[in-house]
Amino acid sequence: MVKLIGKKKKFCAVFISGRGSNLKSIYYYSKKKYSKINLKLVISNNLNIKGVKFANKNKINTKVINYYNKNRAEKKILYYLAKYKIELICLAGFMKVLSKNFIKKFNKTIINIHPSLLPKYKGLNTHERVIQNKEKYSGCTVHIVNEKLDSGKTILQKRIKILKSDNPNKLAKKILKLENQLYPRAINKILSKI
Ligand code: GAR
Repeated sequence: MVKLIGKKKKFCAVFISGRGSNLKSIYYYSKKKYSKINLKLVISNNLNIKGVKFANKNKINTKVINYYNKNRAEKKILYYLAKYKIELICLAGFMKVLSKNFIKKFNKTIINIHPSLLPKYKGLNTHERVIQNKEKYSGCTVHIVNEKLDSGKTILQKRIKILKSDNPNKLAKKILKLENQLYPRAINKILSKI
């Protein structure tokens, strides 16, 4: 019985560069019976970060990749993806842009979470720009990764109303909570299709 449930789960890799709150929520969700996620590998371009500490503590295979030479770094990552038979890459605050060549060579689904209502506010400092522009709503989006930054088909999106009392920091905290709920659900959704 346990074996049958295990077989349904698919090998996923999570790519991180920092805090790793999304990694955490994906990890805890992966432990649920109905989850289709088998969190097999964590890739990071930074060693001394909370996300890597969490991954090590929970005995997830973790590879810290030196990005001094991007081409070489991506080759190494492709090697590990093949070694661990990864079927889905989830970018979770990974601050390196994947090359066209990498995306082509991996040739499987890659998804990302972004803290805005895409296609609005691609790139960095989203919350600052949202507040400055006096937007009524913001939120987060999980989308398929293609060669263009923060583009690609939306899988799931969640929005919240911006309050007068919100500032970039407050908004970032609220949206991060939403992200942590949305990302595992979006992964499960995409895994049921691949
Ligand atoms: C998240 O807010 C995520 O949306 C953002 O980085 C943060 C990572 O937090 N990603 C991007 O801005 C990508 N364009 P975490 O390390 O706690 O998961």
